[in-house]
Amino acid sequence: MKPIAAVVLAAGEGTRMRSSIPKVLHQAAGQSLLMHVLDAAAGAGCKERVVVVGHGAEQVRAALPAGCVAALQAKRRGTGHAVLCARPALKHWKGTLLVAGGDSPLLSAQVLKGLARHHAASKASATVMSAVLPQGGAYGRILRGPSGELERIAEARDASAAELAVREVNSGVYCFEAPALWKALEKVRPSNAQGEYYLTDALALLIQAGHKVAVWACPDADAMRGVNDRAELAWAAALLWQRKARALMASGVTLVDPASTRIDAQVRVGRDSIILPYCFLEGATVVGQGCRVGPFSRIKDSRLADACQVEQSVLDQAQVGAGAMVGPWTRLRPGAKVGRGCRLGNFVEVKNSVLAEGVKAGHLSYLGDAQVGAGSNIGCGTITANYDGRQKHRTILGAGVFTGSGTVLVAPARMGAKSSTGAGAVVLKGRTVAAGQTVVGVPARPLKRGSHEQ
Ligand code: UD1
Ligand code: MG
Repeated sequence: MKPIAAVVLAAGEGTRMRSSIPKVLHQAAGQSLLMHVLDAAAGAGCKERVVVVGHGAEQVRAALPAGCVAALQAKRRGTGHAVLCARPALKHWKGTLLVAGGDSPLLSAQVLKGLARHHAASKASATVMSAVLPQGGAYGRILRGPSGELERIAEARDASAAELAVREVNSGVYCFEAPALWKALEKVRPSNAQGEYYLTDALALLIQAGHKVAVWACPDADAMRGVNDRAELAWAAALLWQRKARALMASGVTLVDPASTRIDAQVRVGRDSIILPYCFLEGATVVGQGCRVGPFSRIKDSRLADACQVEQSVLDQAQVGAGAMVGPWTRLRPGAKVGRGCRLGNFVEVKNSVLAEGVKAGHLSYLGDAQVGAGSNIGCGTITANYDGRQKHRTILGAGVFTGSGTVLVAPARMGAKSSTGAGAVVLKGRTVAAGQTVVGVPARPLKRGSHEQ
């Protein structure tokens, strides 16, 4: 197939969202509506992507991924005008343009490929993607001539009662041959109910000029649905989660209860992993093979290696090594790196800390800004007092360290390999417990041989 450039229209305000955030930046299933469309376009082979921005232009521009170009539509004068605003950014482009709205997150790469293939096969100058809906609502109606070819598109606002009865609607997604489109758009006039330059009028003009204009009826009518208000946003998100659940199950992941599980579009889960009910896998999370997650876990932007178990826990920007067991009721905050085979239990919080292989922290601990050596055992209630009211400090434990219950490590503090603390020990700020040494008490002092006194 020939290369395609995408023009994504995202200058509209989205009044019905009643929001200070531009409509296309609202999130569904882990990413903005606009990102869903841009991803679908990239997946369909669009090498270049131009986004027409207007309302909240700076915000939208700032949210664009690398490789996308913004084109400013300073004043909203209709979809035809919006596409013309992308022209300077596409001066060099003589091939096919794919045009879509930035508020249609259900468009998939597969659907866009279907449209592009039909466009290429029919050798048309333009191809409209249509869908047949139970009711046409506010969508433009596809009006066909006696032999089934497209005559024009009637906007709902401008349509007669007979035209409104037509259930085949314009999806707002098209392929155009760029030179023909620019020529037609120059001739579009705002002679309609809204006084806008309609992109749809370019189609009628192309037909009048003798160009072939095709229609491709999308087999999945939901794919073209746009989001205009918060109810539609929730509807779209639900469908995206459903789609993701189906794709994961098809790829060999068990979802025990897909209806209560929300897995965002970008998340990856390996084969034979089991996701138990009421789990939320969000953002850029990656789960390895043979993991068991849930029930009741929220995992955001985190990486789980193979064969991990995470039950009833909250993870955010964390990494969990192979075979580790986390939870129930563990909280891993940004920068938590949990090594292979670690075991973390109830009410253990880890933040910005590296736990080497086989560390155990079974209960009621806070490990913040810490480094914990392999095989260390963090006793119940061990706390790194990492904040002195002004600054955060690090705690560094060597391999095979054992901390007794209720140990407080006032950072910065260090414990050498195989050192240990007694229950209730407080290792003071700036201290180092020597390798192999046992310290006890408050403040913690080395334990004398043969004595439990300090
Ligand atoms: C448009 C189509 C309609 C189709 C529907 C599908 C026209 C005239 N009508 O109608 O046939 O059924 O989409 O959703 O094209 N936009 C801009 N700048 C503008 C105006 C719009 O960027 O000046 C953007 C909007 O942000 C939106 C998209 O273009 O992403 C569609 O605009 P919208 O006003 O929603 O068009 P509709 O009236 O829905
Ligand atoms: Mg619309």
